[in-house]
Amino acid sequence: MTTAREIHLTRYPEGKPTLDIFETVERDLPAPKEGEVLAETLYLSVDPYMRGRMRPDVKSYIPPFALDEPLDGGAVGRVLESKVDGFAPGDLVVAQGGLGWRSHGVVPAGALRKIDPSLAPPSAFLGVLGMPGLTAWAGLTQLIRPKAGETLYVSGAAGAVGSLVCQLGKQKGLRVIGSAGTKEKRDWLVREARCDAAVGYKEHDAASLTTALRDLAPKGIDGYFENVGGMQLEAVLNCINDRGRIALCGLISQYNATEAPAGPSNFANLLTRQVLMEGFIVTRFMDRTEEFLSEVAPLVAAGRVKHEETVYEGLDRAPAAFVGLFEGTNTGKMVVKVAE
Ligand SMILES: NC(=O)c1ccc[n+]([C@@H]2O[C@H](COP(=O)([O-])OP(=O)(O)OC[C@H]3O[C@@H](n4cnc5c(N)ncnc54)[C@H](OP(=O)(O)O)[C@@H]3O)[C@@H](O)[C@H]2O)c1
Repeated sequence: MTTAREIHLTRYPEGKPTLDIFETVERDLPAPKEGEVLAETLYLSVDPYMRGRMRPDVKSYIPPFALDEPLDGGAVGRVLESKVDGFAPGDLVVAQGGLGWRSHGVVPAGALRKIDPSLAPPSAFLGVLGMPGLTAWAGLTQLIRPKAGETLYVSGAAGAVGSLVCQLGKQKGLRVIGSAGTKEKRDWLVREARCDAAVGYKEHDAASLTTALRDLAPKGIDGYFENVGGMQLEAVLNCINDRGRIALCGLISQYNATEAPAGPSNFANLLTRQVLMEGFIVTRFMDRTEEFLSEVAPLVAAGRVKHEETVYEGLDRAPAAFVGLFEGTNTGKMVVKVAE
């Protein structure tokens, strides 16, 4: 009998999540049945979209978390016992469910994918070679479709998604400007991610960010990878070129809002500048995973793409890591290390 430690949600947050809405619970797991494996969690992913699953009143593309049940999400684990052909004890796997926010889980075969540890360290399969990586690749290459010489602006640029967008943008010969909340992150963006420039947002309103972006992007902005929303979108709409493209990936500045956020006052620029803004959910591109990996994995292996991580140690730190996403405590992918 395996006893799992699980993080449960005891109530839904109002505004920014706090640590007291989570609790750790021990539970005996059943033995795996045919078509299932028992696995131990090595790393688990905490992601901004999980905040959306804490709003039971809002219809979304993914159902809300149930209270007093384990939270869930992506995780990397090691198979301990297998009733699935092709999976053996010791195999390293990514589980898209059934292993997140817990020390052990019984996972159905459909949620499992084996990982090749020769490509990168296991945690990278939750970040640069995982869901955030695919998100970055898809939004840039399939929606923005940049041409060499164009200018790209990326909000949330020092995070898991944004940091890969910036680096892929540089690989494609773009002028890349990223935004991030601290000087350390902005220095990292220029030094490690090779951005041409990095800009803060906390010290700006839409008008002053517009002025800053006009300096940093003298030829205007052709592509915008949107992770944040709010006044950054408004500033970009002031600077975007005719026929610009916006990949609407995330709106983290609004995820904890308790009142309806205001829309950009210059929304009409989408019309007059003939801008294409398209929202997307990464699951739409899951069938392009091999193509994404064939482009990005060699860049990672060659060290041409940096994959920074912020690691919180221990399952009990998962709630703190999650709250940290909304305080900007991570550079690169936020992960929780649960076991060696
Ligand atoms: N569409 C999809 O399928 C999809 C898939 C994955 C992710 N996403 C979205 O992509 C975005 C980035 O996700 P990620 O996993 O890469 O997270 P992340 O950027 O690694 O972490 C979140 C970061 O957001 C910034 N942030 C937090 N609150 C903010 C606020 N009020 N205003 C501005 N910035 C704020 C913080 O950085 P600073 O220090 O810079 O503030 C923080 O480090 C999120 O919006 C997420 O929901 C969408």
